[in-house]
Amino acid sequence: MGTHYQFSLWSIAFSLCTWLGRGWSKNLTHGFIELPFNTSFYHIQKPYDLPVEQRYSFINGVHKLWVFSTDKPLYRSSPTKPRSEISISGYTYSSGVWQFEAYGYVTCGTSIVSIMQVFGATLPYHTSFILGVDTNGSLTYFKEPVIYPKAYDKWFRLNVIHEVETRKLKVYINGIFKYETLDRGGTSHYFKCGVYAGPNPSYYMESRWKGIRIFKKFD
Ligand SMILES: *[C@@H]1O[C@H](CO)[C@@H](O)[C@H](O)[C@H]1NC(C)=O
Ligand SMILES: *[C@@H]1O[C@H](CO)[C@@H](O)[C@H](O)[C@H]1NC(C)=O
Ligand SMILES: *[C@@H]1O[C@H](CO)[C@@H](O)[C@H](O)[C@H]1NC(C)=O
Repeated sequence: MGTHYQFSLWSIAFSLCTWLGRGWSKNLTHGFIELPFNTSFYHIQKPYDLPVEQRYSFINGVHKLWVFSTDKPLYRSSPTKPRSEISISGYTYSSGVWQFEAYGYVTCGTSIVSIMQVFGATLPYHTSFILGVDTNGSLTYFKEPVIYPKAYDKWFRLNVIHEVETRKLKVYINGIFKYETLDRGGTSHYFKCGVYAGPNPSYYMESRWKGIRIFKKFD
């Protein structure tokens, strides 16, 4: 009788912890289907005068992207800042609910740079969402506000969910909700990650990515 009672208490405590644990970090990919992700769906954008190996590596499952503030843009005639980015344009979408998940890492000293984007917007904008890095090493929504401080030299899990019809964008870091905003319009979108210099960036910019997964909600 006593043993049985003790066992039940343990079961209740255990169930409660499991339940609380679920609430704390909810399963963000529940209700989504994972789409295949390989080189058929992305390409690397890098300075036009350099071979890709000089600004990108993929070793042991880790994509490493780096660029210097003095590098050339994407095309000879482009007025844009230097970049080294994984452009997932194989999944260009104009409706539905899409999700980007990956583990990201920003090297200490990298600043004023976009590390992840939801590309596509209504002019004069080109992009609907930028996850940036400020001069303090915090992750920001565009230039501000800060959504995740002290991001240097550690892996964090990033989930970005874009609901096209409502224009809602939600950002989660390490499974925890951090920011919600509206997109900037536009009729076609895709995800990008890497480093894309902002105004007055650090001389050297680097981010790393692993476990990149693309999901789409099915209804
Ligand atoms: C989250 O949900 C997905 C899809 O329903 C499922 O495949 C996955 O196993 C779940 N993960 C956890 C940790 O429960
Ligand atoms: C990528 O995945 C798709 C779908 O599974 C497949 O058809 C294609 O051959 C793959 N491409 C490469 C380069 O592996
Ligand atoms: C960096 O941190 C300092 C001290 O907390 C703060 O005053 C400053 O506004 C921050 N700069 C940025 C760009 O966030």
